[in-house]
Amino acid sequence: MSSPITDVPIPAHVPAELVCDTDIVNDPDLLADPYAAFDRLREKGNILWSPKLGGHWIVLGAHEVREAFQKADTFSNYPTGIPPLNEFWPRKLIPQELDGDDHKRYRRLLTPFFSPSAIRPMADSIRARTHELISQFADRDEVEFVDAVARPLPSTVFLDLFGLPLEQADVFTDWTYQLLHSGSHEKSAEAGQNVVTYLIELIAQRRQDPKDDLLSTLTNAVVDGEPLTPDEVLDTAFLLFIAGLDTVTSQLGVVFHHLAQHPELQQQLREDPESIPAALEELLRVYPIVPPARTLTEDYTLGGVEFKTGDTVLLAASAASRDPEVYDNPDVVELHRGGSWTTAFGMGPHRCLGSHLARQELTIVLELMVEMVPEFELAPGHESKWHTAGNVWGLDKLQLRFKK
Ligand code: HEM
Repeated sequence: MSSPITDVPIPAHVPAELVCDTDIVNDPDLLADPYAAFDRLREKGNILWSPKLGGHWIVLGAHEVREAFQKADTFSNYPTGIPPLNEFWPRKLIPQELDGDDHKRYRRLLTPFFSPSAIRPMADSIRARTHELISQFADRDEVEFVDAVARPLPSTVFLDLFGLPLEQADVFTDWTYQLLHSGSHEKSAEAGQNVVTYLIELIAQRRQDPKDDLLSTLTNAVVDGEPLTPDEVLDTAFLLFIAGLDTVTSQLGVVFHHLAQHPELQQQLREDPESIPAALEELLRVYPIVPPARTLTEDYTLGGVEFKTGDTVLLAASAASRDPEVYDNPDVVELHRGGSWTTAFGMGPHRCLGSHLARQELTIVLELMVEMVPEFELAPGHESKWHTAGNVWGLDKLQLRFKK
């Protein structure tokens, strides 16, 4: 959440019984297993308040999270308060940090690039790249899955989308990692600056010499009769960079972490690859990786609790889609549950623009992993270390061992 990074006194409108001491970035409990930690927190109440990181609400109940997502005029997306980005980015990220009509105007520009029919043609190159990555370890005994697949794949997809040479994938992968997970303020600022310098140069090139790609369209787009300024193009391109790389990496890690501990699910997917889309929906329901943040624009009563203008709120997506009031055995991945809804991609006007692309990437990796490698499990000695920085939950490493 936003600075100050210190504890604050409990405001008068926060009932004492709703106060918890959860630190969503540093709690050892959360870093051991954020899903279990948030499930336990929800048992204390659907809405809690923490004095950590400047003081904020944590909304955990399914109905309350849904209501906040839908009530977007009251629960504003600015500032999103994502450390370290909130300290680094000087302007609003487009369209993520815009509200109301302003948000609609810019989102409309991007929507055609992310529709199912627009992203379907990318499937062949995603499949080819995934095949190439998996081939490099398919006959080995072990692999560190995050570095081998989860991190490099989304970089290549981003480069494809932006019409950039695929040889730059490693550089982009490294920049994302340093920006969001280096744990060092200097490294994070340096990586962010590298991305910005690169994008500024690219935007200038596309303005002079447009190509058939997303960035050229943005560079030459017109909103309300005015061409987008170079800053507006940059604010959009930078958001796409952070929105589409780290998220897919983290989601892949979390999905394969579950599969490594559930050989029976791997078996089901191997025997019936047609069930992969249903399995993915359940995995997304049980393991949302992004808890979006909001700031109140007016006083509002949510779930019987009074929020005040200016309050900061974390929408605990994972706790919401594992709410026992909505699902029996909520933390169990059940292929034939039917009618499940996930908060993994958010809801309401800011619902993830890249969800079709993300699902396509995840589905292809699942298909090729069950096709190309034998049963896998967590390697002996593997320790699941989680990170929650950048408001994206993920695993630093995922060491898998194949059963031969
Ligand atoms: C598994 C992968 C992904 C997950 C879990 C994810 C999750 C989310 C969530 C929860 C939001 C809503 C944030 C909010 O309500 O404040 C969001 C928004 C967004 N996502 Fe994704 N995302 C993923 C992949 C992608 C990809 C691949 C792209 C595009 C390259 C993308 C682009 C965006 C954009 C542009 C927004 C902002 C939409 C708006 O404000 O209107 N995402 N994402």
